[in-house]
Amino acid sequence: MSKLIEEIEKRRTFAIISHPDAGKTTLTEKLLLFGGAIQTAGAVKSNKIKRHATSDFMEIERQRGISVATSVMGFEYRDKKIIILDTPGHQDFAEDTYRTLSAADSVIVVIDVAKGVEPQTEKLVAVCRMRKVPIIVFINKMDRDGKDGFDLLDEIEQKLCLTVTPLSWPVGMGHEFKGSWSIYEKKLKLFQAHTTQEDAVEITDVNDPLFDKECGEKLANELREELEMAETVYPDFDKTAYLKGDLSPVFFGSAINNFGVKELLNCFLDVAPEPSEYITEQREIAPNENKFTGFVFKIHANMDPRHRDRIAFVRVCSGIFERNKNYLHVRLGKKFKYSNPTAFMASKKNVIDEAFPGDIIGLYDSGNFKIGDTLTEGETLKFSGIPSFSPEQFRYINNADPMKTKQLNKGIDQLMDEGVAQLFTRKSNNRKIIGTVGVLQYEVIQYRLEHEYGAKCDYEPVSLHKACWISSDDTSKLNDFMKRQNRLMAEDKDGRPVFLAESAFTLDMLQQQNPDIQFHFKSEW
Ligand code: G4P
Repeated sequence: MSKLIEEIEKRRTFAIISHPDAGKTTLTEKLLLFGGAIQTAGAVKSNKIKRHATSDFMEIERQRGISVATSVMGFEYRDKKIIILDTPGHQDFAEDTYRTLSAADSVIVVIDVAKGVEPQTEKLVAVCRMRKVPIIVFINKMDRDGKDGFDLLDEIEQKLCLTVTPLSWPVGMGHEFKGSWSIYEKKLKLFQAHTTQEDAVEITDVNDPLFDKECGEKLANELREELEMAETVYPDFDKTAYLKGDLSPVFFGSAINNFGVKELLNCFLDVAPEPSEYITEQREIAPNENKFTGFVFKIHANMDPRHRDRIAFVRVCSGIFERNKNYLHVRLGKKFKYSNPTAFMASKKNVIDEAFPGDIIGLYDSGNFKIGDTLTEGETLKFSGIPSFSPEQFRYINNADPMKTKQLNKGIDQLMDEGVAQLFTRKSNNRKIIGTVGVLQYEVIQYRLEHEYGAKCDYEPVSLHKACWISSDDTSKLNDFMKRQNRLMAEDKDGRPVFLAESAFTLDMLQQQNPDIQFHFKSEW
């Protein structure tokens, strides 16, 4: 077997997603503990930006800095190289999460047993469904009272539009939580808090009287009934359906107590996909192609004030990436070589000589990269599937220091390339509008423009509901529409026409009145 194929088969690159506070950081940490990548709990710093920190710029920056180190974590377990892509918890950074998902081959969704499916989870899973990413669900905090298992699975099916099948089933819950029956491994796992030890008693038959002795007759009987019911209600687990994104296995556990985590990890390693094919505008790329291809899915400002460069996160899609070899930066049509590519193992970064499909490498960048950029050995390719989403917050941006116009423009340009927000230029008055998913970005932009570029800006409110890209097969109808709606027309950074809807009502009405015009809520369609 060639080295390339061997390395591809070893890699499992995935993202953990959840609504803030469901337990994503805790689960990540426990996975790293199992993999021996860290020795003690508490070593992974949470990169979540708590809601109350909205006005604390330093805190935002500090946490962004931390998340550079922890946003990709790799470790080896059972001869596999596991790469976890962390995603920001704060909803204002949802776009970062969407982009990170484009670099993952599968996803683990963490759900809080008491809170059930929360809004952020709904949005993120909708993105996964678009790409048919295989999803495993982990229902967390079983040591607390929460929703009934069947109700929760119903809710997941309805709100997340997933077909699910449980691979474990809880015995009791909250203060009565005794453990879980592993449908996957066909044995009872007794709950012991904070331990990585295997159970001393081995119960592999639900009807074993030892079960009643360990968990009490009432809970044992309840479990037997529930398992019987689950068997009739849910389909059998089928790896092919999971890999196609058509069936999601569900585990119940408690991350903080290490319960159910190893089982999740073992199943993940048995079933999760290897680095997958990628679609480009030109053709499909298979990971085992000899030539290297990769794309930038995230750009991070370097928080070290002595080094103002940035780190571009590149997902290797095919071939072998080599240090100091020239690669074509397709958008710029220029070749560059990289002398210090880094890999991320646990929270350490180290320089690497080679990287393989599924790997994420960090390339130091002085402003050449933007999100979605492609690197190849010479072929002109553009990866698709890293869309920008229609923003929901809008403000005019003004130059507050006319002596620093150049710096301001450069700063805005680079921050937009990093994907911090989107820039639209309004046709009627030529003014610049910054569109974002959340309000926190405005403060980040203002702070970073000042501290990194020496420019000052202020904002002015503009009352808009949504910005959507428009297109039509009929150019004259499109031109006609743009002429009529001139007051509400803008251009995005790439010069594409964008309609600025003032309200949901007018948008709806215009969509109905103009059936030949397509309104797009993401930049790729
Ligand atoms: P997030 O990254 O998804 O935002 O969640 P995180 O892991 O930070 O967990 C959120 C809170 O939930 C934390 O408590 C964490 O300790 C707790 N938690 C995680 N897993 C479990 C579990 O299995 N059972 C219970 N009961 N709690 C769990 P916190 O008080 O907000 O933070 P901390 O002070 O403990 O860090």
